Amino acid sequence: MPLDGRTVVVGVSGGIACYKACELVRLLVGAGARVRAVMTAAAQRFVTPLTFQTLAGQPVATDTFDLTQESEIGHIRLADEADAVAIAPATANVIAKLAAGIADDLLTTVLLATRAPLVLAPAMNVHMWEHPTVQENVARLVARGARVVGPASGSLACGYEGTGRLASPEDVVEEIRHVLTPQDLAGERVLVSAGATQEPIDPVRYLSNRSSGKMGFAVARVARRRGADVTLVVGTTALTPPAGVHTVQVTTGEEMARAVQAAAASATVVVMAAAVADYRPRHPSEHKVKKSARPAALELEPNPDILRRLATRKGRRVLIGFAAETEHVVREARRKLAEKRLDLIVGNDVTAPGAAFGGDTNVVHLIDAAGEEQALPLLSKEEVADRILDWVVAHRSAATRRPTLRRVR
Ligand code: C5P
Repeated sequence: MPLDGRTVVVGVSGGIACYKACELVRLLVGAGARVRAVMTAAAQRFVTPLTFQTLAGQPVATDTFDLTQESEIGHIRLADEADAVAIAPATANVIAKLAAGIADDLLTTVLLATRAPLVLAPAMNVHMWEHPTVQENVARLVARGARVVGPASGSLACGYEGTGRLASPEDVVEEIRHVLTPQDLAGERVLVSAGATQEPIDPVRYLSNRSSGKMGFAVARVARRRGADVTLVVGTTALTPPAGVHTVQVTTGEEMARAVQAAAASATVVVMAAAVADYRPRHPSEHKVKKSARPAALELEPNPDILRRLATRKGRRVLIGFAAETEHVVREARRKLAEKRLDLIVGNDVTAPGAAFGGDTNVVHLIDAAGEEQALPLLSKEEVADRILDWVVAHRSAATRRPTLRRVR
């Protein structure tokens, strides 16, 4: 967990989006981080230091020349102890000062003194954001290694519609996780499928399944966090697409097959976590079927097996599948691994405690083509995603060739 026990300095500059920075601090603390808030004078006009101090459970720094603060906190100590620094919201003013190297208050002084990676979450009026000076300043900071998250588009507090909203606190947290995570998947292009497919019976009815998409989304999020370039092909899900991931929305198994095949051409790793319907109605009705029509049976035909097709022109691409079962998990997973010619299969019993559809945890078996197998304990879906991607990294590192999973007969 990259945030657990890490110190994150949250710089809060003076925009109305300050109130959303409170939620950011709450999320960071909830994820185990030690949060030190540093507020500019203008930020304190919007939200009081007491709010941040209460949420962080740590003193808030506001003034370089306050003797008590300086002796107890110290601007250099703050700069040194930070594992990451995030400015949220980052106003045009603080961005300009940092780009120019001005250090005329505590926040800008800490920003110059720190060696920690920097995440900028700008928030301002759309015309300010689009101003060439702001864009140039942001580009300079990006060129120096800062990561920018947002701004998002929508209705702005100033009454305008456009780009300038602070990125969601969840997206800022994800960017902070990103800068704290070793980029061991840099250079990999990971294609992930997630969610259920819907196979139409008529314009208002369909066949589908209970997949929530959470496992595939976790793989996409974690792969991107570890430096991969990620494409996510998504069927039905209620989840918000992860930031920084190219998302392709589909509905049917046939659409998913086309989207996956198109993206697979340039992928180095494919993780098929989607629950693709094995069968679809052979003759979907153009109009809503009347109750009085009383159909005797639904005639079905098979959907294309996407993974199997990919295996025929595999190259160096790593293929990973899932086997969601209700009995004989390992036996079924091994069979699918061989049948679909996969490099790794993730088997899980969806009836086991903590492994149900829609939950945030999973209990899985990893089985690879070399016959090595690992039974993982109950883990969060993000931790499972990390273990799957650890296997990819180890599989790639031909030099070490250490077995990643315990060998079984
Ligand atoms: O054969 P079964 O559907 O049980 O296999 C599950 C694995 O195969 C999953 O990784 C799933 O995403 C993938 N799959 C596929 N195309 C299908 C059905 C499943 O790629 N039509």
